[in-house]
Amino acid sequence: SAAEKGGYDYFMLKEIAEQPKAVADTLLGRIDPSGSLTLDEVRISPQELREVDKVVIVACGTAFHAGLIAKYAIEHWTRMPCEVELASEFRYRDPILDGRSLVIAISQSGETMDTLMALRHAREQGSKVLAICNTNGSTIPRESDAVLYTHAGPEVAVASTKAFLTQLVACYLVALYLGQVRGTKWGDEIQAVIRDLSRISEEVDRVLETMEPVRALARTLAAKDTVLFLGRHVGYPVALEGALKLKELAYMHAEGFAAGELKHGPIALIEEDLPVVVVVPSPRGRSVLHDKIVSNIQEIRARGARTIVIAEEGDEAVVPYADHLIRIPATPTLLQPLVATVPLQVFACELATARGNEVDQPRNLAKSVTVE
Ligand code: G6P
Repeated sequence: SAAEKGGYDYFMLKEIAEQPKAVADTLLGRIDPSGSLTLDEVRISPQELREVDKVVIVACGTAFHAGLIAKYAIEHWTRMPCEVELASEFRYRDPILDGRSLVIAISQSGETMDTLMALRHAREQGSKVLAICNTNGSTIPRESDAVLYTHAGPEVAVASTKAFLTQLVACYLVALYLGQVRGTKWGDEIQAVIRDLSRISEEVDRVLETMEPVRALARTLAAKDTVLFLGRHVGYPVALEGALKLKELAYMHAEGFAAGELKHGPIALIEEDLPVVVVVPSPRGRSVLHDKIVSNIQEIRARGARTIVIAEEGDEAVVPYADHLIRIPATPTLLQPLVATVPLQVFACELATARGNEVDQPRNLAKSVTVE
């Protein structure tokens, strides 16, 4: 009913709008006044966490994209190796696991069969499993050693939005907590990131306030067949997520590429007026990546692409090459997906509407897939 949708036409729009609160709720009670993390609900002892020598993340769909982003954060803040794998591929290749592996299973529903089978396999090998989940008491957290709930509230639309952002927050918390417990790299940087994280909900809110031009742009692209997405570093999984949203909702051919791979194949796809969305890393921080992506934008535009550029406020280097410019607030590099994903959700939702598709219940898809 309209009341359930809180005045929005679709649950997806409501859930996109709820993201600032969802992100804040996931942080709630997990940062103590001194700026340290208290993840009491992670019932794997600090001693056990210190003995971990590798992290393995398993998930499907949108949750898998959260896992890909988590890898950058976990490896950077803990200096531990982290693998990410599609849950459906995991157990069939006989993965190398033991008592010192920490397996993180990410799932909104907590019922995805592929993810459940992956975590069962991990526990059989003696690994500890931490679930990152949005649904209290669901099967995946019940079968895990520990759980960090995402507190996004119920997500009804099949295409995941607020669950994804809160999965990212939970992954950052786990990465920072591992860094804190293990004493690696624990210092000014991690403290500063925790401060940035606690402000991020306002930044997501700011992005939401500026989405009208993104909707207008989406409507002009309703008759296109293909949209490509490019990103680099954590922007690469963001590109994959942008493409997934478009497949799920607009039933368009959409693909995400690592911008550095462009020259190894995908650039052959560029043709006159092909829309290409580019997620640009911050010009501060890893500025080498920024400069390389600016030249990618230049290259594809020279070959006729219609460039849709998502870049940080104040990044002037992209301006000459952007046919459409979508601004996002400046954030630390690793946190950028929390703001960069939002325009892509809005974009896909509006394109779906413009193409006359059912937004909340896309064809052929289910909210949770309980078969392998
Ligand atoms: C289904 C949904 C996707 C979701 C995936 C994983 O395919 O349609 O939106 O990302 O399952 O779901 P989970 O509940 O495990 O996060």
